[in-house]
Amino acid sequence: MLTRAGYEVLIANRRGRVSLGPLVDEIGSGVVPANAAEAAGAPIVLLAVPYDAVEELLEDVGPIPRSTVLIDATNAWGGWEAREAESGSSEAVARMAGGARVVKALCTVHANRLAAPDGLAVPLAGDDPAARATVARLLDRVGFRPVEIASLRAAAVPMAPNGPLFGITVDEATLRDLISASS
Ligand SMILES: NC(=O)c1ccc[n+]([C@@H]2O[C@H](COP(=O)([O-])OP(=O)(O)OC[C@H]3O[C@@H](n4cnc5c(N)ncnc54)[C@H](OP(=O)(O)O)[C@@H]3O)[C@@H](O)[C@H]2O)c1
Repeated sequence: MLTRAGYEVLIANRRGRVSLGPLVDEIGSGVVPANAAEAAGAPIVLLAVPYDAVEELLEDVGPIPRSTVLIDATNAWGGWEAREAESGSSEAVARMAGGARVVKALCTVHANRLAAPDGLAVPLAGDDPAARATVARLLDRVGFRPVEIASLRAAAVPMAPNGPLFGITVDEATLRDLISASS
């Protein structure tokens, strides 16, 4: 979805650049294999690894600067209540990431739908208005209808697995109503 919308994408995984060859060939132009540190140097970083891998990955990468917008698409399946009860998994990601401005987004959308957004209304949340606006523009550009939530804290339960905004297929007005009802 990102390359189709004209974004230049660096893609990284755990097994290394060479293993990404087939995926890069499949996606076509606009995507470049990288390591995690290189990918983390982009102005907008999309974090989409199993939640249990986030801490080690971000430690390896090192602090991410405040100029970076870090989209947290992870879901803390199972472990969230116990580990992050006070705040929420994306606030924990923000702490682990150092300075980056974290925006929680795309975690509520199934992978199949990422390939065909078709105007689906999706929530995004973050504490920094400029970072939220950046991600809203990106989501709009790739074909979603983004609806903002004004803080990571407010989105922690509604956007978490089994929360009222998770995995839903609704129009923008209905999503706004659901967000109002859940905050
Ligand atoms: N699947 C969905 O529909 C969906 C939708 C919304 C959000 N999410 C969330 O997105 C995240 C990823 O989900 P997924 O289904 O794509 O999982 P996945 O297939 O298990 O893993 C995604 C990628 O994470 C990489 N990875 C794992 N540990 C890593 C590490 N330590 N350093 C660097 N890369 C690492 C893997 O690299 P290798 O290939 O080299 O192992 C793999 O490419 C999860 O938090 C999930 O909850 C998933």
